[in-house]
Amino acid sequence: MIPFIDLNAQQKLIRDKIDNRINQVLDHGQYILGPEVKELEDKLSSFTGCKHVLCCSSGTDALLLSLLGLKIKPGEGVIVPAFTFASSAEVMPLVGAIPIFIDVKRDTFNLDPIKLSDTLKTAKDIGISVKGIMPVGLFGQPAEMDSINDFAKNNDLWVLDDAAQSFGGIYKDKIVGNLSEVAATSFFPAKPLGCYGDGGAVFTNDKEIYEIANSSHIHGMGKKRYEYDRIGMNARMSTIQAAILLEKLEIFRDELKKRQIVADNYNKNLSSLNLNIELPEIQKNFKSSWAQYTIILPENINRDKLQEYLKSKNIPTAVYYPIPLNEHKPYSKYPVSKSGLDVTYYLSKNVLSLPMHPYLKEDEIIYISENINNFIKKHLDK
Ligand SMILES: Cc1ncc(COP(=O)(O)O)c(C=O)c1O
Repeated sequence: MIPFIDLNAQQKLIRDKIDNRINQVLDHGQYILGPEVKELEDKLSSFTGCKHVLCCSSGTDALLLSLLGLKIKPGEGVIVPAFTFASSAEVMPLVGAIPIFIDVKRDTFNLDPIKLSDTLKTAKDIGISVKGIMPVGLFGQPAEMDSINDFAKNNDLWVLDDAAQSFGGIYKDKIVGNLSEVAATSFFPAKPLGCYGDGGAVFTNDKEIYEIANSSHIHGMGKKRYEYDRIGMNARMSTIQAAILLEKLEIFRDELKKRQIVADNYNKNLSSLNLNIELPEIQKNFKSSWAQYTIILPENINRDKLQEYLKSKNIPTAVYYPIPLNEHKPYSKYPVSKSGLDVTYYLSKNVLSLPMHPYLKEDEIIYISENINNFIKKHLDK
C-alpha cells in the first residue's frame, strides 16, 4: 500500500537526532515544562514572527485556550465554517458559546468572506451577540485573512485562525500563526508539523491573550505555584513531544518545499488527463502547507466505488469531510447562516483526498493519477 502519510520515511532521516533529543529529556528528567518546551516556543516565535507562543497538549486545547484568552462568555457567538473538522466548532459549546455556521468557497475550501455579513445578521436576528470569527486554513491554504480581518475590524469582532492544518502556510509574506489576533495549531502526528503524540500551540502578539491562555493551561495558575487566578485546565505539552518537535522543525521548511513539489506533480499529472476533476487552487499571494491534496470529483462519479477501486490498487484515500458539521446531532441545534451552506454540502459529497506527504515519489503520483484515470474513463455513471 502506498502510505497516505509516510511518517517512517521522515523518521529514518532524523531518527538519530530524535533519539538524542529524547535521551536528553530522559537524562534531565523534567518531563513536564522542561527546557525543551521553552526552546520550542522561542523557535516557533522566530519561525512565525509572532511575539508569544504557548505550546500545549493538542490543537483542540489550543483553540480552547485561545477562546479563554479572548474572554469569550456563555451565550456569545462565533462564526465558523460548517466544512471543517469537529474541533473547530466543538470548543465553543465547551465554554458555553454558540457556533454559527457559514459556508466555504468551492475553489479554496475556506470560509467565504462574502457571506460574513448575512451570517452576522442571521445571529443578530435571533439575539446572539457575535464576538468573533474562526476561519480555518483547510487542507493547508490559509483563509482570505485581509477580507476577514477587515470585516472583523468593522464589526468589532476578533479573529481566531484555526491553523491546525495550515501551519507553515503563508499569506502575503506573513507566516500562518501571525495573520490574526490569535491562531491555534495542532501537532497531531499526521499534521504538516507533527509530533509523536498529541500537541498544539497558541500564537498571538497580544500579551493579555497569551497570559490568560498561559495561566489557563496550568489550572489557572497565578504568579505563584499554588495560587489560582481563574478556572483552568491541564493542557501542558509533554517535554518529550517538544524535544521531538525541535528536530522536526529543523527540516520543516525543506519538507514544505517538498510538499509543494508533490502538489505540483499531482496538478501536472491530473490536469493532463482532462477528466473534469477540480484540482486544489492556491490563490495569488498564498502558499499552502499542503496538509492534504484534495480534489473535487465530477458529480457523476461514484466516490465510494472509486475509493474501493483505488484501495484494490494499494492506493489509500480519505474523505475530509463527508458530513457538514451542522448535520451531526450535537451541532444540529446551532444556527446556520441565512446565506446557506450550498458549497459545504456539495463538497461533502464530492471531495476526495489523495496520499500526501513530502516523500511521495513522482512515479507513485503517476501511478495514482493513472488509476484515477482508468476508473473514471470506465465508470462515468454513478
Ligand atoms: C481543522 C482542525 N482543527 C482542529 C484540529 C484539532 O487538533 P488536535 O487533533 O491536535 O486536537 C484539527 C486536527 O485534526 C483540525 O484538522
